[in-house]
Amino acid sequence: MLDTKTRDVIKATIPVLETHGEQITKRFYEMLFDAHPELLNIFNHSNQREGRQQTALANAVYAAAVHIDNLESILPAVKQISHKHRGLGIQPEHYPIVGQFLLRAIKDVLGDAATDEIIQAWADAYGAIASAFIGVEQEMYEEAGQQPGGWTDFRPFVVSRKVRESDVITSFYLTPKDGEAISSYRPGQYLTLKVSVPGQAYTQMRQYSLSDTPGKPYYRISVKREDARENAPAGLVSNYLHNDVQEGDTLLASAPSGDFMLVIDTERPVVFLSGGVGMTPLMSMVSTLLQRRPKHHVTYVHAALHGGVHAFKSTLEGLADEYENTSYYAVYERPSHEDKAYRHFAKEGFVDADWLRSIAPLDAEFYFCGPVSFMKAVYRILKGLGVDDAQIHYEFFGPQGSLA
Ligand code: FAD
Ligand code: HEM
Repeated sequence: MLDTKTRDVIKATIPVLETHGEQITKRFYEMLFDAHPELLNIFNHSNQREGRQQTALANAVYAAAVHIDNLESILPAVKQISHKHRGLGIQPEHYPIVGQFLLRAIKDVLGDAATDEIIQAWADAYGAIASAFIGVEQEMYEEAGQQPGGWTDFRPFVVSRKVRESDVITSFYLTPKDGEAISSYRPGQYLTLKVSVPGQAYTQMRQYSLSDTPGKPYYRISVKREDARENAPAGLVSNYLHNDVQEGDTLLASAPSGDFMLVIDTERPVVFLSGGVGMTPLMSMVSTLLQRRPKHHVTYVHAALHGGVHAFKSTLEGLADEYENTSYYAVYERPSHEDKAYRHFAKEGFVDADWLRSIAPLDAEFYFCGPVSFMKAVYRILKGLGVDDAQIHYEFFGPQGSLA
């Protein structure tokens, strides 16, 4: 427990640190990787480049500092981060290293304004925040290891099948190399892959949502190939998986993690909205929900550029045909003639409020995932329609950001 004086110093200096937050975290990462290049094996380089990781870390540290009197109140946010950390294999011994460079970065950016008293107060606060994370993560490692078929680090999986799902999305069926059982998961959770891409100095970690229903002898992930665009090279890991990894090859994965989870026993209708490859966690959710509750009122909306990049069409058609209270709509930004004739084609352009209200019950639980622009639009529409935050559930395919 921090003493009153320390807490007062923290509270008094939060506004200053917040103003310089991203400068501090940017400096922090520069110094951290300079001194500990081995940590480049864990951090996602693309998220660093876009600054999303810096923002996420700065926000988390300040949110924790603001609630330093009562860290319990931010436990849900800690858990979301800790799921990521557990999937990546972050260990207690990493925390003092991060703390050391965070303090050095504060000192570096603030200069003389960062007195010894201020630095000591932040060292104590970091210690309290770090022990909250370490505690939550230790429990998560234990839980992952104790589950039937569970494990705690990275386990080798053989790609038993590789299946093309659309022009840009391919599924990989992963069967454990040791032939033993694999742990179950909650629909919405993801695997973290640790990949050595030829020619790269560091290993690459990437998360991929589990796209099939749990309870199978394999895990299925479905990966979009991130092609090169103007000023942007092709995505490293997705292209490696698509182009180089073949059936019979081995991939390393940690046990399923993540806090984007379907609540199966809800009395409310359920509406799923996916954009592009953001459909992967929702495919697991919708299929599991209907398997367990065939009469439930379910609406599935998928938004894609056009039919050629729309994966899992036949799965969604099958669900809409088989389950009487399930409806499914395709929204294409630029539909071809053929797309317009598709029996589930509902709208050209984008999902909008009037259209959504006409097809979906507003008292539903809403689950959505897709590109950040899609998620922001969906969130704005739902809030505009008066949907309560408690009914809104979403996943970012990158560091958590703000949708507001
Ligand atoms: P990276 O090499 O990481 O590049 C990412 C993007 O940055 C690319 O568009 C690339 O063009 C661009 N870029 C790279 N370098 C530069 C540069 N120098 N300048 C400008 N732009 C650049 N993905 C899926 O396909 N399926 C899933 O089910 C899925 N689930 C996810 C679940 C979670 C919880 C999270 C966090 C992510 C998920 N992702 C999923 C995303 C996935 O983890 C990867 O981020 C994605 O595959 C891209 O990785 P990459 O290595 O191919 O691209
Ligand atoms: C991710 C906060 C300690 C490594 C994150 C994220 C946050 C965060 C907010 C983004 C979560 C998301 O994806 O939404 C913190 C805080 C820490 C801490 C507040 C200290 C109290 C550490 C430590 C390490 C670490 C000690 C290990 C060296 C990572 C990595 C990621 C991550 C590798 C994923 C990065 C990415 O994919 O871009 N952390 N973290 N963190 N953290 Fe931490």
